[in-house]
Amino acid sequence: MFPITSNIDTKSQTFAENAAKYKAIVNQFKAALRDARKGGGEKATARHKKRKKLLARERIDLLTDRNTPFLELSTLAANGQYDDQFPSAGIVTGIGVVKGRETVIIANDATVKGGTYVAETIKKHVRAQEIALENHLPVVYMVDSGGVFLPEQANVFADKHDFGRFFFNQSQMSAKGIPQIAIVMGSCTAGGAYVPAMSDETIIVKEQGTIFIGGPPLVKAATGEDVPAEELGGADVHTSISGVADHFAENDQHAIQICRNIFSTLDKPKKQELEMLEPEDPKYDPQELYGIAPLDFKKPVDAREIIARIVDGSKFHEFKARYAPTLITGFAHIMGYPVGILANNGILFSESSRKGAHFIELCKHRKIPIVFLQNITGFMVGKEYEHGGIARDGAKLVHAVATANVPKFTVVTGGSFGAGNYAMAGRAYEPRLLFMWPNAKISVMGGEQAANVLITVKEDQLKAKGKSLSDEEREKIRKEILKKYEEEGSAYYSTSRIWDDGIIDPADTRLVLAMGLAASLNKPFPEPENGVYRM
Ligand code: COA
Repeated sequence: MFPITSNIDTKSQTFAENAAKYKAIVNQFKAALRDARKGGGEKATARHKKRKKLLARERIDLLTDRNTPFLELSTLAANGQYDDQFPSAGIVTGIGVVKGRETVIIANDATVKGGTYVAETIKKHVRAQEIALENHLPVVYMVDSGGVFLPEQANVFADKHDFGRFFFNQSQMSAKGIPQIAIVMGSCTAGGAYVPAMSDETIIVKEQGTIFIGGPPLVKAATGEDVPAEELGGADVHTSISGVADHFAENDQHAIQICRNIFSTLDKPKKQELEMLEPEDPKYDPQELYGIAPLDFKKPVDAREIIARIVDGSKFHEFKARYAPTLITGFAHIMGYPVGILANNGILFSESSRKGAHFIELCKHRKIPIVFLQNITGFMVGKEYEHGGIARDGAKLVHAVATANVPKFTVVTGGSFGAGNYAMAGRAYEPRLLFMWPNAKISVMGGEQAANVLITVKEDQLKAKGKSLSDEEREKIRKEILKKYEEEGSAYYSTSRIWDDGIIDPADTRLVLAMGLAASLNKPFPEPENGVYRM
């Protein structure tokens, strides 16, 4: 494989200006991360620590192997919602390494409203379980939660992917042989009681952990029985009387050590084998991405320049380099893992769609995971292209993406608009992980286009009645739509609602993808179902 030759002048003023602006965006993102990681704030944290309990992220740190990274997901979930009373949506989820095994960890943050669940908390919990299921990873639940945040019950209880889904997923995972361990480190009330009750093994912490399907206030109201929490469902009760829990721990640290001991007894996973290479740094520094990353989506960015700063040795074996240049396709390695890359280099045309579909089939047959680098305004529109059958060619790409049965990973580096989002493995296409760069934007179309469409529709309506829009009315519609799309299209809006697995610093893209790739090997890839159809 040959290294990409960069055409970027890193000494130029354009590069320096882009880098300065992008670094400011990254700094703002890191400040938001720091704020979210403060959890429920100083008072709640002090109260939690006074009870000799570790914080959610401290617990994860102790559970995972020393000097291994933890890939935290959706740290900015619920950001900008609920008056910012639910940092990280009150739950920490991610992939960490426990006794050498990639493991999904789901830890309630009791400093945030008693670790209770709003819609985004549920979405994060269910998404983490989905990641475990798709990659066949063990799960550790670190439970410390008052269950449903009662004022929000209508948004969290009854629907298919609401609270009840946790236990459905636990059953499904168990049936597929995925180990699940619960550590009860605080409250575990009502439906929450099923988390430990449905895990393979459960550890409960003395004088901290409680498990009951109805807490003392509910028992009092329902039956008049007056019973303290510890006596109703504390560690002693559940390890010696009910048998709901299996291990009695003296404190958080002891509980985590017991959990690690349990991991030593787990069966070894059957892994997918890949032709690995010795990991190599890119020839071009990933920090240079700040000078290249898309700021103004009207200005094209050569996707090869981005690839050169993500892949090992900046080496890229390009496929169909001379054909359909608005979609770059080719093979590379990331931290030694082989990958096929599809990266937008402009609008999607019929031929770029067919090229993408053909390349995906190659990846499927060679059992090579696929990385999508999205920076896409959409498919080409207009009479010439409709007559040429762009809808049919786009459908080929969408179909290939949807049915590609090797692990897929998506990074939105710039715009993600319209059907381009689908064709490049947006959320609905089940990439194993999907991340956004902090300046990325995602919406059905750009704000300008949406404003123009709506103005045209309005004008057509009025024209039929012999009326028309005044300049002021037209401008008002335009401004309102632009403002709405600007806000709703931002990476922060997306990540708050868990349309992605998190925002990442562009310079970390390699590391994040490598962790996802490592995790994906825990589930062997299926055989392709058909041959390679040349498009
Ligand atoms: N719904 C809404 N808010 C809740 C809540 C719930 N289920 N449980 C706790 N909270 C809120 C409290 O009102 C408090 O809010 P504030 O900070 O604005 O005052 C905050 O969470 C912390 O609660 P607090 O009781 O002060 O903390 P704690 O650490 O002493 O106890 C719990 C935490 C979870 C053990 C305790 O609050 C509790 O038992 N909650 C009720 C649990 C329950 O019955 N859930 C059933 C739902 S399915």
